[in-house]
Amino acid sequence: MRAVFSPVSLGRDSSTPMHRRLAAELREAVLDGRLAPGARLPASRELARDLGLSRNTVLDAVGQLVAEGYLEGRARSGTFVRSDVPERTARARRAVGPPAARALLSSRGRRLAAVPSGAEDARLPFCPGVPALDEFPRALWARLTSAVLRREPAQRLNYGEAQGYRPLREAIAAYVGAARGVRADADQVLVVSGAQQGLDLVARLLLEPGDPAWIEDPGYAGARAALQGAGARLVPIPVDGEGLSVHEGRRRSPRARLVHVCPSHHYPLGCTLSLPRRLELLEWAKAARAFVVEDDFDSEFQYVGRPAPALQGLDTAGRVLYLGTFSRALFPGLRLAYLVLPPSLVSAFAKVKGAVDQGAPGVEQAVLARFLADGHFARHVRRMRVVYRERRAELIGQAQRHLEGRLDIEPGAAGLQVVGWLPAGADDAAIAAALRRRGLGAPPLSAFAVTRTLRPGLVLGFAHMRPAEIRSAVRTMAEVLPSRPR
Ligand SMILES: Cc1ncc(COP(=O)(O)O)c(C=O)c1O
Repeated sequence: MRAVFSPVSLGRDSSTPMHRRLAAELREAVLDGRLAPGARLPASRELARDLGLSRNTVLDAVGQLVAEGYLEGRARSGTFVRSDVPERTARARRAVGPPAARALLSSRGRRLAAVPSGAEDARLPFCPGVPALDEFPRALWARLTSAVLRREPAQRLNYGEAQGYRPLREAIAAYVGAARGVRADADQVLVVSGAQQGLDLVARLLLEPGDPAWIEDPGYAGARAALQGAGARLVPIPVDGEGLSVHEGRRRSPRARLVHVCPSHHYPLGCTLSLPRRLELLEWAKAARAFVVEDDFDSEFQYVGRPAPALQGLDTAGRVLYLGTFSRALFPGLRLAYLVLPPSLVSAFAKVKGAVDQGAPGVEQAVLARFLADGHFARHVRRMRVVYRERRAELIGQAQRHLEGRLDIEPGAAGLQVVGWLPAGADDAAIAAALRRRGLGAPPLSAFAVTRTLRPGLVLGFAHMRPAEIRSAVRTMAEVLPSRPR
């Protein structure tokens, strides 16, 4: 490690805390190849001794790099440079541009451009988060689009309200109130271009660089990217069967400014935040004056029982920002989602949304408003629930028949993906890479983990696969997965 960087290369800029200087140096070493993909880092104790730093400083820096997706912890073997870093590095480098261009960027620009995108290939079988695009009622959508273009005033083609088209905001408020128990009127709704933009606006408007923010571990990489882009200090908090451990959050970072959480259906484990934890989270947020970003990304698809009502409906202190998207229920290319904000934040958010892109596309918003108000949305979701329930059952049945003991699926009550558990000790990243070579896009569970070592598993998106495709993909898996341990 001395050969990679030394106490000298960590610089003497005493205004930046040492753990951040070490994190920056480690990041650079991964990006420029001094730390090769797959390389194992020395134990934190050793590294601390070699560099003359405290072990906590090293643990903080390494934790940050794990959270950013450069390093990963593996069960009982240590911390490694992620094997997909060359790809990410190439992407990040291409995004940042050649060295000369990098020199032109602000430090914020460099930070934003280097955030790993983590995008999966959404066309592949088993890629999570992709709805059944071929089931979308395109003819109906085309008719509504044509009606909007023919009947609405020409002003519909002009710039609209940055906060969003009012009839759409009304339809969203009615929908989230009835379906999710969210307390909102149209004035609190901000239409955004995808939940990702919602996360980006939240991070930029509410966080100072260096502010601590809790993230779920494992959790959604897109949220990490948005928070990291705003310079937040990510504090990974473990998730168990009852969801985010609020107790651990309070212990690790009692004064965090923000928390990103998927209470109704965790991504990707599928658990629900229990009521005692919901109450504990709200109580903490109120006392700490922290914001809770409730990411309710796929609550439409619950197969067993009814989804737990939104956390936002329990919040009496105005600390919860509710985030919903049409990417799962309709299609991701629509890029329409919404934030339900505490009233005091609405005008600032709307102003910034206007400054960023002058508001979401007007014609699409008008079409979506009709789609919701005329009952097509509810009908489509009901129909898709049946389609997805069948596909999920097909996957579970096929896996039981062909993969038993090698990949055990935990059905979960909701969502467009399930977790398939691999036998203890399996290397899920290597298995996912082997599946990828056979054209299957199931990411390893370890890719969602930040600092935690989880049981190895695969995340399997099934919604976009027809039953025949599921059967054929499971046959391929049976050829690739290591044979059953005796
Ligand atoms: C948990 C979670 N939040 C937010 C999003 C982003 O959705 P959008 O397509 O609206 O940006 C996703 C997409 O996969 C997600 O899984």
